[in-house]
Amino acid sequence: MTVLEVMQATTAYFRKHDIENSRLNAEHLLAHVLGRKRIDLYLEFERSLSESELAPLRDLVKRRGEGEPLQHLLGTVEFCGHVFLCDKRAMVPRPETEELVELLKSEIRNPKSEILDVGTGSGVIALSLAAKFPDAEILAIDISDDALALAQENAARLNLAGRVRFLKSNLFEYVEGTFDLIVANLPYVSTQARDTLSREVLHDPAVAVFAGERGDELVRELIAQAPSRLRSGGMLALEIGMGQTEALLSALAEKNYRDIYLKTDYSGVTRFLFARYG
Ligand SMILES: C[S@@+](CC[C@H](N)C(=O)[O-])C[C@H]1O[C@@H](n2cnc3c(N)ncnc32)[C@H](O)[C@@H]1O
Repeated sequence: MTVLEVMQATTAYFRKHDIENSRLNAEHLLAHVLGRKRIDLYLEFERSLSESELAPLRDLVKRRGEGEPLQHLLGTVEFCGHVFLCDKRAMVPRPETEELVELLKSEIRNPKSEILDVGTGSGVIALSLAAKFPDAEILAIDISDDALALAQENAARLNLAGRVRFLKSNLFEYVEGTFDLIVANLPYVSTQARDTLSREVLHDPAVAVFAGERGDELVRELIAQAPSRLRSGGMLALEIGMGQTEALLSALAEKNYRDIYLKTDYSGVTRFLFARYG
């Protein structure tokens, strides 16, 4: 079969198995197996593939058809212009979170800010900010040993190992000091929503997805605890779940946060919440 034929057959297989963006998924996997850039496949459409090239592709295509996330199969994900390792030890980073990092880049005025990333997962937020702000002091925490191990591999790979400190902590339990910015993309899915989630999301670690019966439990706990960890005028920046805005706005008002504002993500969902304290 030629490159084009394989691409078409794989796309059709993915469509049959309800994989979103089936053509794009096919291109990514084919490029990965052939060690090419996706764009370069277009220059090779008529080339015949050997059995040794097709065999590894078959396995990946089957697994993708069964709902394994594309990023797990590729082993990497691109986030804010950097390539991060990605596997089942932490949540697959989402495009919305890239938007959060982009918003933060324009919010951070002091290049020497002290920043805390709560629930760092694969480290994408902390490490993207470290790359952008070389003089910032950044601490990244997570409750999961697996996530922290992956985050540290990512730090080393991106030559940022000395730039971010990693710590195992349940929210602020083992955190010392105060910060100019606390950013968190904590789990915000209700345990009751489990049956509505895609096959792909169920490959993320449960500790990265589910917070409790309501979904906003961990974020509310963070809002309650953060005032004593923020410097005067410091900012709390949160990624939140759909339909959680009102309860979280009340939680912020109750604790006397100020300059509270919301931002929608590219699909129009209210997804980011910013507030200052003191
Ligand atoms: C939604 S994932 C986000 C990961 C990463 N920040 C990102 O945006 O891709 C949430 C992360 O919070 C961590 N987490 C869950 N409960 C926590 C807790 N009580 N304290 C600290 N981290 C927690 C999970 O292990 C997971 O890595």
